[in-house]
Formats: sequence, structure tokens, C-alpha cells
Amino acid sequence: MRRLFLKKKLSDLTIEAFEEKHGLKRSLGPVSLVLLGIGVIIGAGIFVLTGHAAAQIAGPAIVISFIMAGIACAFAGLCYAEFASMIPMAGSAYTYAYATLGQFAAWVIGWDLILEYTLGSTTVAIGWSGYMVSFLKDVGIIIPHFLSAPPFNYDVARHGWTSTGAIFNVPAAAVVIFITVILAIGIKESATLNAVIVFIKVAIILAFIVVGVFFIKPALWHPFIPPNKGEFGVFGYSGIMRGAGVIFFAYIGFDAVSTLAQESKSPQKDMPVGILGSLFVCTLLYVVVSLVLTGVVPYTELNGPAPFAVALDAMGLQFFSPLLKVGAIAGLTSVILVLLLGQTRIFFSMGRDRLLPPFVSKVHPVFRTPYIITFVTGSVTAVLAGLLPISIVGELVSIGTLLAFVIVCTGVLVLRYTHPEFKRAFKAPGGPATPVLGIISCLYLMTGLPMDTWIRLVVWLILGLIIYFTYGIKRASSSQTSLL
Ligand code: ALA
Repeated sequence: MRRLFLKKKLSDLTIEAFEEKHGLKRSLGPVSLVLLGIGVIIGAGIFVLTGHAAAQIAGPAIVISFIMAGIACAFAGLCYAEFASMIPMAGSAYTYAYATLGQFAAWVIGWDLILEYTLGSTTVAIGWSGYMVSFLKDVGIIIPHFLSAPPFNYDVARHGWTSTGAIFNVPAAAVVIFITVILAIGIKESATLNAVIVFIKVAIILAFIVVGVFFIKPALWHPFIPPNKGEFGVFGYSGIMRGAGVIFFAYIGFDAVSTLAQESKSPQKDMPVGILGSLFVCTLLYVVVSLVLTGVVPYTELNGPAPFAVALDAMGLQFFSPLLKVGAIAGLTSVILVLLLGQTRIFFSMGRDRLLPPFVSKVHPVFRTPYIITFVTGSVTAVLAGLLPISIVGELVSIGTLLAFVIVCTGVLVLRYTHPEFKRAFKAPGGPATPVLGIISCLYLMTGLPMDTWIRLVVWLILGLIIYFTYGIKRASSSQTSLL
């Protein structure tokens, strides 16, 4: 049955027919896709989390963590590219799982991807708020604490919540609302704005690197791997491993490119270029940036919301700091944009498949965007960004995304054996080794993350199962052909 359904999906129905039926605009080429990828990858991970990870988890060896996480992403990225080139539909890992592993697995991964996309944009919006508040302070505008922080923070050591004295993180919520309106207006406009922002943030990072190399003191890289402090994940080799899990957040998003297959001009050719191209550029930048950061300032001093500013202070280049914050703010804005965009398209697919209510896939007659779900997603994200602390959401995003990668790699592996006849415009090299290594490396990074995070993931998945068995399975059971 599934075999027949897949054959129909992949051969009878063309992309154009799909577009005609579902009405999304096809306007993205390979350059736009690479830019969208870079737009979503470089963000709070490098601008905020790198400092914390170097100072408290891995020291200068955070460079190794970046390489480890990059390798895991490369395996997953190759699998994503293979899937994306074979099934040019919106929905990312959700759609791929539906095609290869069936409806139940699709629901699990679709539900899991909400952690990556909605909570990912929440996390970055909170980071955006931090940089914005700091920049405004530089220019003499003070946003009061009670309007720029969540009401509660999670105390990791005591495993409990503490009051912060604040009410709501207004800047974090405001940026989400602003981007939601842009997304509702249309994909072309969004991609253009994204290209401008990507240019600014890459220019700022390159400027930081070019200037920073002249201030590197190689002595600061010794010891490159600080000795472990007697606890798992606090420096030493386990620190490198936990560091990889934490800064994995910095790579999240390259897969978002695959959610745009339906809106790219030539998905069979362009998707692999978009996914792997953006991943390669970002890995290179991360490795060099973290070498510069830990080479110009002792790693212990890098903790805090703006490690780049700390490094500039150490170089005596404080005047560059406001400019850098503007670049970071621009960079974080584009990340929120692409993550929110990806989330709405995944919901769109789930609505079309009847796993979610039909209003989710309703397209605006003029803008041709899924405008209702865009506003719903934006509103929920804005509230979460106003109320939640960055650490809690960030870790949940990482573990949820790693799980998604594991399922994607499994899907590629399964499809190689169950459907070897399918045409693959791009085939991941290395035979089954690539998906297998993808599964192993992502699971390995997951094991580095704390138990609290694992518990939250399990609770989230259980909630998803309850919704599936009380709603989705009944509505969707007779509508499989709606995938195309
Ligand atoms: N990779 C994205 C970031 O670092 C999510 O902000």
C-alpha cells in the first residue's frame, strides 16, 4: 500500500502539479537557498553560547567541539540532501519520515521538529533581546530589567525555578511579532531581506576575524584541553563532548533549507547545494572565530551574554563593539526569520495531511502564504520568548533537533533498502556508512546533554503521542494520498 502510494507520489505527480494544487510561490534559486541557510545557521550559537561553552565547559578545545558537531551535521546534512533531492516537498524531516517510515513516525518527527523550529526561534529571540538591550545601553537608552527578562529563571544546580523580579521580555516578543508580519506578506520579500542581513552579519564576523588574528597570543591556547574538574562535562574530554552538544545549537538550521523545496526553482539540483554549501561556510567560520576568541582573551573570561564584546575590549577596540552588536542583532533577526518560516511550512504539511486541523494549511489568496498558521505560530513564539529563560529552551532545541537528525538518517538508510529504485538526484557518498555514522554521531552528542533535558524531551514526546492517538490518527487515516 505504502509502496503504491510512494510510486504515485514520486512519479505521477509533478512538482508543478503540486504547486498548482497547493499554491505556494516558487521563487528561490541556489544562491537564495545558501543565503537562507547561512541566515539561519549563524546566530545565537556563535554570538552567545560559544563564550559560555568555552568558559565553563571546554576551554579553547571548544574548537574541537565545533569540529565534532560539524562532522555530525555533515553526515545528517548529506542524508537531508539525499532526501530533499528525492522528495521535493515542503515539510523537511516530517515529510521524509512520512514517505519512508509511515504516518506514525512522521507525526513523531513533526512534533519533535516543533522543538527545533518554534523553540529555536524562541531561543534566538531571547538572545536578540540581550544584544539589543546591550546596544541600546551603549547609545544611552536604558530598557528596564522588568521589561527585558523572563519572570522566572531555572537554577540548574538546585533543579528549581527562581524569580527574577522581571515581568516580561518585551524586546524578545516584539521582534517575533515584527518578523511574523514580514513572513505573512510573502516569501520573496522575506528572502530578499534575509540576503541583506546575511551580508551584514558575515561581514561583521569576517572583520572580527581579520582584526582579531593580529591580537592572538598563542600562550592562551595552553592548555588547549583544560584538565577535567572531577565532574562529567566540566573540561577535559567529557567537556569537549558536552561542549559539542551545547554548541550544536550553532549549527541548527541548515536543514531548514530542505523545508523550502516546494518554493525553490529547481529542488532536485538546488537543495543539496543549499544545505551542504551553507553548512560548509558556517563550519569554517565557527572554527576560525572560536580560535580567535580563545586566542585573544583567557577562555575563563568569555562567559556572559556578549563574548565578542569581551574580546574587543581585550584588544582595546571598544569602539567596534556597538557596530558588532548591530551585526549580531541583524544576524539573529535572520535566524528567527528562517526558523519561523520553516515552522509554518512544516505545520502547513501536517495540516494538509490532516494530522492537524485544516486551517493550518490555508493559503492567503493574494500573498500566497499560509497566513493563519504564520500568525498563530508567531503569537505563541512571542509569548514563549517573553516568558522563558534562554538556557532551558536552548538545550531542549538541541536535543530535539538531534533526535530529528537520527530519524532522518534512519529514513535514508531504510529507503536505500526498501526503495533502491527511486531516482536520487543527489546520493550521499559512502554507501550505508554515511547514515549509520550520522545516527551514531547524533546519538553520541545527545548523551552529552543533561538528564533534565532528556526528561523534558520525553514529556514532550508523550504529549505528542496523546494528541496523535486522540486526534491525528482518526482524521488522517484515510487521507494518505493528500501528501501530493
Ligand atoms: N544555529 C542557530 C543559532 O545559532 C539556531 O542561532
